[in-house]
Amino acid sequence: MVEETRSTKPKFLRALSGEPVWPPPLWLMRQAGRYLPEYRAIRSQAASFLDFCYDPKSTVEATLQPIRRFGFDAAILFSDILVIPDALGQHVSFESGEGPRLTPISDEAGVTRLRETINLDRLYPVFETVSRLKQDLPKDTPLIGFCGAPWTVASYMIAGRGTPDQAPARLFAYRHPALFQRIIDRLVVASIDYLKRQIEAGVDAIQIFDTWAGVLPTGEFDRWCVSPIAAIVAGVKARYPAIPIIVFARGAGPRLLELKDATDADALGIDTSVDPDWAATLPKTTVLQGNLDPLALIAGGEALEEAVTRILAAFRHRPHIFNLGHGILPETPIAHVERLVELVRRDQPF
Ligand code: CP3
Repeated sequence: MVEETRSTKPKFLRALSGEPVWPPPLWLMRQAGRYLPEYRAIRSQAASFLDFCYDPKSTVEATLQPIRRFGFDAAILFSDILVIPDALGQHVSFESGEGPRLTPISDEAGVTRLRETINLDRLYPVFETVSRLKQDLPKDTPLIGFCGAPWTVASYMIAGRGTPDQAPARLFAYRHPALFQRIIDRLVVASIDYLKRQIEAGVDAIQIFDTWAGVLPTGEFDRWCVSPIAAIVAGVKARYPAIPIIVFARGAGPRLLELKDATDADALGIDTSVDPDWAATLPKTTVLQGNLDPLALIAGGEALEEAVTRILAAFRHRPHIFNLGHGILPETPIAHVERLVELVRRDQPF
């Protein structure tokens, strides 16, 4: 009986629950997107990226495209982390070729203009997408829901755009710590509400993206990265204790240990800069996800083979989910993704 349950549970969820699985399950951050011609084709039909994100027909199709092509071991809901500020009433748009634009928050009036609670009705298309995907995905392909971590989302809300070093948000946090804390607290509550609804609609696991964690100095890292993520994990698990949660804090380096201790996350994403041999010394109870350099995937050839071999060797006897160390880039050749799938899966199960 136990054996049966075990063998029918998808590899991705087995690894997330702490079981070493060989070959490891594989999915790629940003696996749906511009490197796929079929994505570009449907994307070009939409008036704007946000319209696309709020159209379940488009988002279901975008989520399924990489699964059909590569048979990855997990699908990730197609959406964006900036739907949260949008649902808090901040103006959000995406300029083609330039990235996101938001009305920057520069003072208390900007914070006061935000809604107290997230408008979940505005996010209804996201939940609709999840329910439809539960019907359309292969039964053995789990669906990952996600949100951005408060620090990363706040960095866009303050600057109003992507910046190289998040200086506007870091300055804001130094100059107005109490006001910044209000934004972070609002995002913590909004994220918990949003993730709970994704779970109710059917996602099998959650990933929290803290893309810009690495720019924070120690004290700031605890306050703006670790504490809010710990609060989100606790808030979600208070209602749904069994939902697996992956935390990806890019640039955390050795502070990953702190993140592991302070949060009740089930797995840690490791970015490209983390040495797999160092990461492999972390307690085997820590499930790791990562960390192929997206540029090695663009380069292909020897560079790709060597990097994949190294990662597989380092994590062979521990629970590991094969992934990139950051999102796949639009320039990535499809043939290299096909080769990656072959390389990861060529070894027999142990
Ligand atoms: O992983 C997936 O396949 C699911 C989709 C997904 C998108 N964004 C689609 C997207 C996910 C998980 C995200 C997360 C996201 N969005 C993050 C965190 C992860 C990371 O990669 O760092 C961040 C920081 C954002 C904010 C964001 N969205 C930026 C900075 C940009 C513009 C930069 C760019 O790559 O163009 C986006 C737009 C965006 N989100 C696109 C896609 C496919 C490209 C827009 C388009 O197709 O026109």
